[in-house]
Amino acid sequence: MIKSRVQSLIRSDVQARHAYQVADPGSAIRLNQMENPYGWDDALWGACLNHIRTAEVNRYPDASGKALIRAIRGHDQLADDWGVMLGNGSDEIIQTLVQAICDGSRPVMAPTPSFVMFQIIAQQCRVPFVGVELGSEWSLDVDAFCQAMDVHQPAIVFLAQPNNPTGKLYDEAGLRRVIEACPGLVVIDEAYGPFSPRNHQNWLNEYSNLVLMRTFSKLGLAGLRCGYLTGPSEWIEEINKVRLPYNLGVLNQAVAEFALTQGAELMTKQAKWLVQAREMLIQQLRARGLTAHDSDANFVLVEVADPPAVFNAITTQGVLIKDLSGMHPSLSRCLRVSIGTESENQAFLAALDRALG
Ligand SMILES: Cc1ncc(COP(=O)(O)O)c(C=O)c1O
Repeated sequence: MIKSRVQSLIRSDVQARHAYQVADPGSAIRLNQMENPYGWDDALWGACLNHIRTAEVNRYPDASGKALIRAIRGHDQLADDWGVMLGNGSDEIIQTLVQAICDGSRPVMAPTPSFVMFQIIAQQCRVPFVGVELGSEWSLDVDAFCQAMDVHQPAIVFLAQPNNPTGKLYDEAGLRRVIEACPGLVVIDEAYGPFSPRNHQNWLNEYSNLVLMRTFSKLGLAGLRCGYLTGPSEWIEEINKVRLPYNLGVLNQAVAEFALTQGAELMTKQAKWLVQAREMLIQQLRARGLTAHDSDANFVLVEVADPPAVFNAITTQGVLIKDLSGMHPSLSRCLRVSIGTESENQAFLAALDRALG
């Protein structure tokens, strides 16, 4: 009875989907979600608890997130004439962008392979998605991308820089050509910016169809679900109309504000450690004769002959990583491992050695 009612009312495309699955990590070593593995020391936590002591959880949060936005502006040194919109993680910002801009007549476009949520969210919003294949070594195929934009006239183009799951930055001149040729809004997603030698903040002064999306998830605040969109205030003010009013809770706002004002130095230091550990891990993988790809993010792709088998063998040893082999033909030999602490990286290497026999 309930089942038939559900089947008659829930959208058929929703019924055909699977819920987003994340394995319960239990006590495993978590190198599958590109989190920052380091926590805070007791002194910083103590100061944070002091900071949130006055938070009024009986009240709705500040709907405009003033204090947190001020902290973000200071942390990232954003220009006064750029707007800032907060999101419950970048995922929510992607959804807000699609809802604000796409009416279904023009697609969302992104290179493939890239961050899966660009496609998933577009489709959930009933907006067509057009993926354009990356070129050799996961570079942006600028000619193909511009041609596809000409044909499909995308309303939004998402470009993750560095890209997930490839870890690559695109060639700067090619990226500029895509922005210049784009008939819609270009969103550069800098989720992995803290590990990358390049960001695109100054480009906001050059292009009228560009905004930047950032998240603090990879910097050490994944549990807070806190991201933001910035760019010319004309864009941000319109997109912000679609954001749900109280999307970031009182405690999330307060802890994120504290982290950006009083924990920033530590988080920046941790990001540097992760970059050093990434380079070391790449060397250690290559020393084993494996193909480990250069990365500008906090993860590394390593090639093996039979990724599902190696993935299973590593997982059963209590180390979680990601098998990308089914995601895209260019990733058919790839496992993705997030950079952890020194001991976690060593545990991964030991598990890999045993898996490869
Ligand atoms: C490219 C990219 N953008 C955004 C996100 C999601 O960030 P958030 O935790 O802020 O939703 C991820 C997460 O893996 C990502 O890979």
